[in-house]
Amino acid sequence: MGKRVLITYATGAGSTQEVAQAVADALAAQGLEPTVTRAQDAGAASDYDAVVLGSAVRAGRWLPAATNWLSTYRRELAEMPVALFAVCLSACDDAKPEQLETLRAYIATQAEGLQLVDTAIFAGKLDYDKLSILLRGMLKLMRAPEGDHRNWQAIQNWATQLAPRLGEA
Ligand SMILES: Cc1cc2nc3c(=O)[nH]c(=O)nc-3n(C[C@H](O)[C@H](O)[C@H](O)COP(=O)(O)O)c2cc1C
Repeated sequence: MGKRVLITYATGAGSTQEVAQAVADALAAQGLEPTVTRAQDAGAASDYDAVVLGSAVRAGRWLPAATNWLSTYRRELAEMPVALFAVCLSACDDAKPEQLETLRAYIATQAEGLQLVDTAIFAGKLDYDKLSILLRGMLKLMRAPEGDHRNWQAIQNWATQLAPRLGEA
């Protein structure tokens, strides 16, 4: 039987859910047994052999559902291989590298004490129609690049190289 891997995620507008599903599909293709669940519904980490946790980024931080789940199960997570990912616009081609560096440092603080296997920062998707007027106005002022910037090949490649390392549990 393949190792059981929990892929859990926090999303605001849905793009991170699709990234989590793509990660799960790539892990399944490598013989692992992935379960994809929203962080709010994820339950105990100890039911799995390894965990992949991902979140959308808002205002430079993961969403609370992801950080709450991480703090709830941090002790269990210290005993198993864990990979982390973020979905954001800082990873778009024309983004400022210093924003990416800040995000990397933030993720490193989240990873403290974990058996971290790998971290990835993926370009996400911004659909102004899915946002409230307030958020839309704010992001337009910040000139956030609308559109789907997700690189499915990069996501698949990351998950494929991750599989054997998660499976070593
Ligand atoms: C209110 C809001 C704030 C955001 N803040 C950031 C940010 O600080 N840094 C960043 O790189 N991307 C930021 N983004 C872009 C999102 O991370 C990106 O659109 C991501 O794909 C959203 O994922 P989701 O569809 O799963 O919610 C923000 C988006 C929104 C709507």
